[in-house]
Amino acid sequence: MHKGNNDMSGFATPVLPGPTPDGFVYLVDPETGERLARLPVLRGTIGPDVIDVRTLHAQSGMFSYDPGYMATASCESTITYVDGDEGELLYRGYPIEQLAEQSNFLEVCYLILTGELPEREAFEKFSHDVTHHTMLHEQVSFLLRGFRRDAHPMALMVGVVGALSAFYAESSDVASEGQRMISAYRLLAKMPTIAAMAYKWSIGQPFMYPKNKLGYAENLLHMMFAVPCEDYTVNPVLARAMDLILILHADHEQNASTSTVRLTGSSGANPFASVASGIASLWGPAHGGANEAVLRMLEEIGTFDRIPEFLDRAKDRGDTIRLMGFGHRVYKNYDPRAKIMRDACHQVLDELDVRDDPHLRIALELEKIALDDPYFVSRNLYPNVDFYSGIILKAMGIPRHLFTAVFAVARTVGWVAQWNEMHVDVSQRIGRPRQIYTGSQKRSYVAMDAR
Ligand code: SDX
Repeated sequence: MHKGNNDMSGFATPVLPGPTPDGFVYLVDPETGERLARLPVLRGTIGPDVIDVRTLHAQSGMFSYDPGYMATASCESTITYVDGDEGELLYRGYPIEQLAEQSNFLEVCYLILTGELPEREAFEKFSHDVTHHTMLHEQVSFLLRGFRRDAHPMALMVGVVGALSAFYAESSDVASEGQRMISAYRLLAKMPTIAAMAYKWSIGQPFMYPKNKLGYAENLLHMMFAVPCEDYTVNPVLARAMDLILILHADHEQNASTSTVRLTGSSGANPFASVASGIASLWGPAHGGANEAVLRMLEEIGTFDRIPEFLDRAKDRGDTIRLMGFGHRVYKNYDPRAKIMRDACHQVLDELDVRDDPHLRIALELEKIALDDPYFVSRNLYPNVDFYSGIILKAMGIPRHLFTAVFAVARTVGWVAQWNEMHVDVSQRIGRPRQIYTGSQKRSYVAMDAR
């Protein structure tokens, strides 16, 4: 068989011609000219065409192979579009820059869930309905009290959110659109309450109940920082900064945690279990855990003069150190969210009169040096959404180990919208990838004494 231009020894690697005018590509054995497969080319609204390989195995006996899904579209979606080359992010077609400047997180939630911006009456009803689901069953507080005080908040989030299915069994029929929406509202509404309870538990303070008169982001900050013994007013600048952070993290097409939610949900798992699996995936430092890792990195660097040494380590493939908050699977240009976050950083730190925050100064210097460094430039490594978010969160008084929990609060709307979209997609079925097997050939069992 022909050795293709990659180094797969022993495998025929027929070279696919480009899409043909009739909207198909053909898999042809270059030695015999035999057509192995005729595969449709599908075109979306914007973005790359896709080769529909659903019949590849039936036609050719072969699987496609794409570890890490570098070039695989797992689904059709109408929710979020990311152009990695242009550094563009659209929620239901609206540019993230416009939503960040003109909208608010609950309105963005409505948009992501329904596909359209709400008219005033619809928005007021949506806000009312979400606000009136923010309280948790009192038993949940006993569940949360079972954790150690020093447990990582993401462990609590995974456990408590997964356990919510035990409290709402009557609305876990995933085939019912009405029950899917009730669960979406509950998850959207209760995540801030759970995140705030995780924080209070870690510092030994009493839980604060949500206040229905407060906005979504304001309520989160209230539940985190208010105490029962005195009145507490959330700084409106911080409330707006938190609302912005939530908008920027709301959805991001088929990232690792969203793909996890879809795969979990594809088996029919209830929405709470599906979102709990997404929280678990987001926790990883290569994904949502990066914001916490960025701050640890900035603290480890400590001073300007240690930046070159750190960058050398980040460029050394033999070293496990990476420049956290840099690089992205899709963005090969500036992550548009990072630009917005950087501007917000300056505003919040100015407002809090901590403009000379040492971590921000190191982050700005690190970014300046890295963006001129051939290693990062040649690999299209730019700051991503996590590079600046941690600096804002820290300035707001949020501890580092809670950063990813805030990310999970924001991403819940994206997870439930994508999970719901999967349920209404007639082409979707249980996710069950195949593999290329490189283990032992079939062999017979050998008795212990004969080995
Ligand atoms: C998020 O998918 C999403 O959309 C995620 C997200 C969302 O909103 O859901 O945008 C949120 O998770 C943002 C990413 C946060 N993670 C980090 O900041 C962690 C640091 N970044 C890297 O771990 C990495 O860039 C990834 C995981 C983000 C992307 O990894 P890829 O696409 O698999 O890229 P790669 O590992 O193949 O890297 C390509 C090259 C490699 O070098 P060579 O093999 O070519 O020599 O770039 C290097 C990597 O070593 N590289 C880095 C680097 N990121 C990639 N080198 C140093 N520092 C880095 N941060």
